[in-house]
Amino acid sequence: MRLENRKVLVTGNAGFIGSHLVEELLRKGNHVVGLDNLSAGKRSFMDRVIMDDSFRFIEGDLLAVDLGKVLREVDMVCHFAANPDVRLGASNTHVHFEQNIEVTYRLLEECARNDVKDIIFPSTSTVYGEATVIPTPEDYGPQIPISIYGASKLACEALISSYCHTFDMNAVIYRFANVVGPRSTHNVTHDFIRKLKEQPSFLDILGRDPGTHKSYVHVSDCVRGMVIGIERAKDQVEIFNIGSKDRLSVRRIADIVTQEMGLKEVDYHWTGGVKGGRGWIGDVKDMLLSIEKLERFGWSPKMNSEAAIRQAVKEALRMEGD
Ligand SMILES: NC(=O)c1ccc[n+]([C@@H]2O[C@H](COP(=O)([O-])OP(=O)(O)OC[C@H]3O[C@@H](n4cnc5c(N)ncnc54)[C@H](O)[C@@H]3O)[C@@H](O)[C@H]2O)c1
Repeated sequence: MRLENRKVLVTGNAGFIGSHLVEELLRKGNHVVGLDNLSAGKRSFMDRVIMDDSFRFIEGDLLAVDLGKVLREVDMVCHFAANPDVRLGASNTHVHFEQNIEVTYRLLEECARNDVKDIIFPSTSTVYGEATVIPTPEDYGPQIPISIYGASKLACEALISSYCHTFDMNAVIYRFANVVGPRSTHNVTHDFIRKLKEQPSFLDILGRDPGTHKSYVHVSDCVRGMVIGIERAKDQVEIFNIGSKDRLSVRRIADIVTQEMGLKEVDYHWTGGVKGGRGWIGDVKDMLLSIEKLERFGWSPKMNSEAAIRQAVKEALRMEGD
C-alpha cells in the first residue's frame, strides 16, 4: 500500500497509539482526519498536530456520527478506536461487543459503500489465547481467545478479511504484544508507579510471584513497524505480529520500576491472583510473538522488552514531573 499523499481517517486518534501514528502519517506527507469520542483519549495528545494544516479533528462517537460523510473525504482508514481493557470483559460482557465488533462492522459497511479500499487494523496477541507454540507465529491455530476482548478483536479480524474479499478491499492487520511508551494510560507500569507514589515501601501486585511472562514493545518501534508493514504488504489481507524477542515477568517489571524510582527494599505483596496465578480472568500467562515475518519485510525493534519497559517508565516519570 502506498503511504504518502493519502487522505487517512484515524479513529481513536486521541488515544495512546493512534496519536503517535497520526504524527508519523503527517510526517510522511499524508492528510489526516482524526475521529475520537475522547472517552479515553485526551486533547493534549493532539498538541503536536492540532495546528497542522493537513490535520482535522472530529470529536464524535463511531456509533453515532455520520460515517458516510466522514469517509467520503478519505481513501484509507486506520481503525484504532476500541475499548482495549482486557480486564473489563469479565464484569461487562457487552462493552467489547459494542465498542469493538459493532463499531468495526459499522465502519466496514461505510467503507464498502463509499469505496474506501484500504484498512489498517490493530489487533492483539490475545487472539492466540494460550498458544502452545512460543514464539507464536501469525499462522498459529486454532486461535482460542480466553478473554472477551481477544474474542472481539478476532471477530473484527474475521469481519475485515471477509469485507476485503467481498468488496475488493485491502487490509493490514497487526497483532501487537503489549505496547508501552509516552501517552499510554493503562498498563502495568502505570499501576506500579501510581501505587508506589502513594506508598513507596510496599507494592501490591496482582497474581502469583513471579507473575505472567509477556513481551513488550515500545510505541516508537510499533509505529515504525506499522509503516513498514503498510508499505511492503503484498497480500490482500496481510497479518503481522509486532512485539519484541524477549519476555519479562511481572516481578522483573516491578524491579525495573522500583529501580527507576530510586526505591530500595520495597516489600512486594502478591495477591495470589485467579485461575492459577493470573492477574485477572482472561489474562494470558505466557506471551511471546514470533516477529520473523515483519523482520523479513525489513523491520526489527530497536528495544527489547526490558529496554522498552525501562524507557517507558523513565518517560512516565518525566511526564509526571513536568
Ligand atoms: N496498547 C496496547 O498494548 C495494545 C495492544 C494490542 C492492541 N491494541 C489496540 O490498539 C488500539 C489503540 O489502543 P490504545 O492502547 O492506544 O488505546 P486507547 O484507549 O489509548 O485509544 C483508543 C481511543 O479510541 C477512542 N474511542 C473508543 N471508543 C470510541 C468510539 N466509540 N468512538 C470514537 N472514539 C472512540 C478513545 O477515546 C481513545 O482515544 C486499540 O484498537 C487496541 O485494541 C493496543
